[in-house]
Amino acid sequence: MTIEERVTKLRDEINYHLYRYHVLDAPVITDAEYDALYRELVELEAAHPDLITADSPTQRAGAEPLPEFEKVRHPAPILSLANAFSPADLFAWRSRIGRLLPDPDMDLRYVVEPKIDGLSVVLTYENGRFTQGATRGNGEVGENITPNLRTLRALPQRIPVTGPNQPPATRHLPPAILVVRGEAFFPLDQFEAFNNARLEAGDEAYMNPRNAAAGSLRQLDSTITAQRPLTLYCYDLIAWEGGDVPASQWERLAWLRDLGFPVAPDVAHCTSLDEVAAIYEEWLDKRNQINYEVDGLVVKIDDRPLADSLGFVGKDPRGAIALKFPAQEKTTRLLAVQVNVGRTGILAPNAVLEPVEIGGVVVRNATLHNYDEIERKDIRLGDMVIVKRAGDVIPYIVGPVVDLRDGSEQVIERPLTCPACGETAVNLPGEVAIYCENVACPEQLVRRVEYFVSRGAMDIDGFGGKTGKQLIDAGLIHDIADIYYLDRDALLALEGFQEKKVDNLLGGIEASKQQSPARLLTALGIRFVGNVVANLLVAELGGIDTLATADQDRLEAIEGIGPQTAVSIIQWFANERNRQVLDKLRRAGLTIAVEKTAEADNIPQPFTGLTFVITGTLPTWSRDEAKAFIEARGGKVTGSVSGNTDYLLAGEKAGSKLTKAESLNVPVIDEDSLRQMAAE
Ligand code: IVH
Repeated sequence: MTIEERVTKLRDEINYHLYRYHVLDAPVITDAEYDALYRELVELEAAHPDLITADSPTQRAGAEPLPEFEKVRHPAPILSLANAFSPADLFAWRSRIGRLLPDPDMDLRYVVEPKIDGLSVVLTYENGRFTQGATRGNGEVGENITPNLRTLRALPQRIPVTGPNQPPATRHLPPAILVVRGEAFFPLDQFEAFNNARLEAGDEAYMNPRNAAAGSLRQLDSTITAQRPLTLYCYDLIAWEGGDVPASQWERLAWLRDLGFPVAPDVAHCTSLDEVAAIYEEWLDKRNQINYEVDGLVVKIDDRPLADSLGFVGKDPRGAIALKFPAQEKTTRLLAVQVNVGRTGILAPNAVLEPVEIGGVVVRNATLHNYDEIERKDIRLGDMVIVKRAGDVIPYIVGPVVDLRDGSEQVIERPLTCPACGETAVNLPGEVAIYCENVACPEQLVRRVEYFVSRGAMDIDGFGGKTGKQLIDAGLIHDIADIYYLDRDALLALEGFQEKKVDNLLGGIEASKQQSPARLLTALGIRFVGNVVANLLVAELGGIDTLATADQDRLEAIEGIGPQTAVSIIQWFANERNRQVLDKLRRAGLTIAVEKTAEADNIPQPFTGLTFVITGTLPTWSRDEAKAFIEARGGKVTGSVSGNTDYLLAGEKAGSKLTKAESLNVPVIDEDSLRQMAAE
């Protein structure tokens, strides 16, 4: 197989596995197998840049920033929908359109789809390749956001998506030009964590998942979009040329799905509006259980030529209608503002509300994001405020109802001290957040432990929500590393800790020692070092020890690491207490560095059996980097020169080790010769 053929094969396979994972939610290989394919493609493309194509999965990481968005004209108007607010409105719609039908009482079929509250996008495919993606804009002209849309894992780069052993010829081919409409959105389960990370980073939180989707897609720098968990459902065909498409909406959805497009699973095919009304009732409950925000259902006449023949009212086609859910929004009184202490010391304002039922749930608290936000919206204590709930996301305050004020409302003051430990609160320059900078603040410890054990971090089974606080209050935990030194008898003495619970807890803790260094790094909770950054760092540096000694230039040389993150990492490791905690974690047996195996990385092992000592200042490497380089190639690095030393790697200002090596006749090499030896 030529390199070009291999690259093409890898690209198809990877695209197929992305499809299995992100569209079908049914992967057929493990993450590690996927990573190996991906890494092979990255390496081949790096060696043969001429083989890189726009539809290569490696290009999903984002492209060069744009100076501005280009305007693009849609091939047909991108329409909106008229609204209905109850099943009764739906029957009224049916009788209105009846007058325009060949027979007013004819039987119609309907397709019912969730109305996803995201951002409408228009996707163009030419000869099966994704060539352009645009926003809806004003319906006639939108903005070209192709590089951003390319980063969505669920978006097929080529259609039909075919498996590695399935030649495209066995599937139907789409028209030569196909323009598809869909809705891009931010999954709800990711929204809260994402917003919290933004707040911790001193960025403004997004108001709701819809704004987060819009903000993520309207980035001139697509590498930012690539880091957002955006996904997509497609539901309509805007234009096609050089091929046929099915005539019914229901078949179009199946056809889209068959080509490899993501289509909402929660769609229904109905033969009467009574059925539609029943589905609507079901959805009033179901809407809060799915992982995207829906603000209603879209009811479409299944027979598309018939539906299209009914024409429009303004921009709304008569053949479909949006059946909106009641707003999950209520007005209630803001009774107080509580200050919550976050794990990095952020003092976050939280609204205490007069309890109010919204969409079947009693809401007592809502987030106020930060104090700048409170001032911007001019929210005051005692105000009547509009509270909105979306899915399972923490409700938030839309704003005050200024007309209902009676003059007794009070301005909300910024906290001057930490409510948990009394330390003076500080406002870091350039950041909206207010911090408690006391590393020993007990409330911060509770949050840090919560975060450390959480699913996205060390994922410790049996370590429930309240466990951390209970163990801290009992004096069993003073820092996160203490989790690994818990005494069984001390636990059994605590209220509510029976044998079984203690065994589960200790079992979960023990198992978590096997977590990867990247997870551990995430769990340490260094500001700006979330899961994505942690993985980058470990992949580049090999482990947390190497990270601890990396300087700012070294960190910033890593793609995806900016100055803010670099400074935050350096500050974290500069703190003596943090280093002690890390040491304690190491002694407990946690994995601090990636064990490099030859098979895993395909690195040749020319240094197997050789022992090196490093001394002096090397021209381009830090000592840790040199050590990692040698170890990755099978060599060993020790601290002092002896008869067992094979080579001394010496840089400038080498001292006694150099003298000793010379006296023992140990060969002395420099950085360049080491590289050469590795290459031979
Ligand atoms: S159909 C003529 N179907 O809701 C077709 N729209 O005003 C018009 N939306 O801006 C759109 N999910 O962005 C349709 N399953 C769905 C939808 C959907 C969300 C959005 C769309 C549009 C708005 C309707």
